[in-house]
Amino acid sequence: MRGRTAGNRSAALSQSLASWVCTKGSIALAWAAISALALSWTAANAASTATMDARLPLKPGPSRDTGHKDLLDSFLTCGKFRIEPMRLKLSRRSLVKTGAALGAASLAPFGLSQIIVPKRRVLRIGHITDVHIQPQGVARSRFRDCLRKIQEVNQVDLILNTGDSIMDSYSANEARTRDQWNSWREVVSTTVTAPMWSAIGNHDIWGWDKSGSGTTGNEPLWGKKWALQELGLPAPYYTQDINGWRVIALDSTSIRQGTSYHGRLDDAQFNWFSQVVRTTPPGMPILVMSHIPILAVSAFLDGNNESSGDWRVPAAWMHIDARRMKDLFHQSGQVKLCLSGHMHLRDQSDYNRTHYVCSGAVSGNWWGNGSYGETPPGYSVVDLYADGSYGWEYHTY
Ligand SMILES: [Fe+2]
Repeated sequence: MRGRTAGNRSAALSQSLASWVCTKGSIALAWAAISALALSWTAANAASTATMDARLPLKPGPSRDTGHKDLLDSFLTCGKFRIEPMRLKLSRRSLVKTGAALGAASLAPFGLSQIIVPKRRVLRIGHITDVHIQPQGVARSRFRDCLRKIQEVNQVDLILNTGDSIMDSYSANEARTRDQWNSWREVVSTTVTAPMWSAIGNHDIWGWDKSGSGTTGNEPLWGKKWALQELGLPAPYYTQDINGWRVIALDSTSIRQGTSYHGRLDDAQFNWFSQVVRTTPPGMPILVMSHIPILAVSAFLDGNNESSGDWRVPAAWMHIDARRMKDLFHQSGQVKLCLSGHMHLRDQSDYNRTHYVCSGAVSGNWWGNGSYGETPPGYSVVDLYADGSYGWEYHTY
């Protein structure tokens, strides 16, 4: 009796839902509705006939199922779509299982499985990139504002910094480089209380432009050593596990020829990287952080890259060795998220279930007048979940 009353109420509710869904033309929600129906109907009918004509989910049971049948019919004929029902012979037990599977499977293609699968956040990250701090102008006070907001408003557990921490030391002399690192240290030491892990950006490398910087290459802190010291890094690339995730920090910038660089891991680093990915415990999700994006939509659109009639993306803007990295990710299946900066633009893409996020820039237009392209100065909040999924939001400050 209770079942029948509940069934009637459920049927009426479901019919209203179907009507709304059809009106709005939302296929995803319609699938959610019909999946919920399949689940409720199979549960309600667990005690009914053992074999039935399965014009799912609709067999008998007088008033209890009428609404469900009407709902399915109205859905099947909704809008431009008509889905022909299958005729199946199912046992009671298999019907219950089928209903549950149908519910889960039909939600999954629309990403709605998260509605019914509870997620557990294990880490909140504040992702900063391309700070480009310098003693002049608003850089120090604005960076301080940014860090305070990340920690006090967003309450992050960890800060990831993907490089270009200082304005430039690639072509700067020793005194200018020292001033910039002093500014970085002054702000970070007085503002940052959360742990901060960094990667090296191209502008953090001292003196690779020897003529511009006046260096010889024999200075004790030449190249990446100064940045390693200031950022407190154990090595240019490293890995660290935290709360069930593996974080891998890459050193994107390789010398190309003369004074130029490109985004590439040399063979030693790539072998190390491959080994770390392949030996990650099964089921442990991986986050990769790099200064230069491995893949980025923005790399196509920053500049007139199609002016020749073909798309041409400079190797200094996006990893030229992206192909072998995506092969590695595909084989592994555990690399869920790659965070980067460098472009000063905000984008997000997904290739073979690895997600790539380029997080704008704290400095925006290098501390000039606000936005770079369409992207305002900002930072990202990245939530990591125990199931390997993540959430990403870009914030101004
Ligand atoms: Fe930058």
